[in-house]
Amino acid sequence: MIAGVDMLTIDKRIAEHFSNVKQVFLYITDRCNLACDYCLYKSHTTFQLHTQEIEAQLAKKLILTFRNMGAVKLSIIGGEPTLYDIENGNRGLFDIISYSKRIGYSYVRMDTNGVFQQCILDDANLMKLDELSFSIDSHDEALNDSCRGHCSLSRALPNLLYAIKRGYHVDVTMCIHRLNSGRDTDSRLMALNTINALYEYGVKRINIHPVLRVGIPRDTWTSHACLEVEEWLLIRKELEEAYECGQFPLEVRIPTRFITDQEHSSNPKYYGYCSVRMGERILIHPDGIIRCCALLIGTPYGIGRYDETSIVWDTSRTNELYGRDLDLWTPCPIQRLDDNSIVPLCISFKPGQGEYVWSKELDWDSRS
Ligand SMILES: C[S@@+](CC[C@H](N)C(=O)[O-])C[C@H]1O[C@@H](n2cnc3c(N)ncnc32)[C@H](O)[C@@H]1O
Ligand code: SF4
Ligand code: SF4
Repeated sequence: MIAGVDMLTIDKRIAEHFSNVKQVFLYITDRCNLACDYCLYKSHTTFQLHTQEIEAQLAKKLILTFRNMGAVKLSIIGGEPTLYDIENGNRGLFDIISYSKRIGYSYVRMDTNGVFQQCILDDANLMKLDELSFSIDSHDEALNDSCRGHCSLSRALPNLLYAIKRGYHVDVTMCIHRLNSGRDTDSRLMALNTINALYEYGVKRINIHPVLRVGIPRDTWTSHACLEVEEWLLIRKELEEAYECGQFPLEVRIPTRFITDQEHSSNPKYYGYCSVRMGERILIHPDGIIRCCALLIGTPYGIGRYDETSIVWDTSRTNELYGRDLDLWTPCPIQRLDDNSIVPLCISFKPGQGEYVWSKELDWDSRS
């Protein structure tokens, strides 16, 4: 017990699977103040029969339990995490951040849509974050708002600029989709212009998320904004080329997503990166499900369940490991493509990324 918080009892199989756990994603709330067209979390934000938030004391028990198992990185996410305990001036949110640092998480970050009262950035506990990541799809208002909603950029940008001024380490997650993937009058990808503009603002790093349909449940609620796989392959090539020839003065994390079967066979222990196989991350959701893979958000699939006292293994066929041979270094076993000439990789497979777990804990690039 640390600082008045009990740990939860853990099923032996959960403890075994997560014996190498490095990071926790705490989906602290299912509530959101935006309604982005493509939102992967849509089924949670639009419908929950019971619980929409993880109660603060329980959240602390969960992160303490996983810290004790070895987790060092914590991502606070949702839904929109800045809505957490908003009725009490976000005290619960600040308290969880402060607590996580106190119990030894060395890297604590939060994802936000940037739509919040600016004064929260002055809170001393929020300032303990090692990274604050804003979701911005374009520096161009029309392009950003096309999917993230009317006035979303004009509400988020002043907060992003103020966060930089206050000394936060500010990252941006940028979705690339049908509406912002076009070119300017010089035939340059609009995304490249956005990357440059964000750098000028003082953003430290950019995470690219292509919006795609890959034969998974969330395809059902991902909107018209999806890119075709071939479109992404062309955009990725252009982004990688721009990065390699030094056009970006900041780190840009570009997910590979798809390669040929031959490429995969040439080095399966590199391309076969899978957070589920490694048991390196735990996703905790307000619906009581513990998941390993983010592609299963919004489904009944997970690895276990938690309540106020314990974390138990899912013994049914909704266990995401059911029937899976974790010793095989396959492409991603969940995504399904129509095109047999390419195979899907893990959504987190981003060569050269400085991400804490990929680079510091696993040194994954050394396998390439
Ligand atoms: C689900 S949101 C939760 C945190 C917060 N509400 C936000 O928007 O930053 C987490 C990240 O997922 C991204 N995202 C949402 N839907 C997506 C999709 N269909 N494909 C890829 N990324 C997506 C968002 O842009 C955001 O950067
Ligand atoms: S702000 Fe985040 S959680 Fe909310 S709808 Fe947009 S992507 Fe989804
Ligand atoms: S996306 Fe695929 S490869 Fe990545 S963790 Fe999920 S199942 Fe594994």
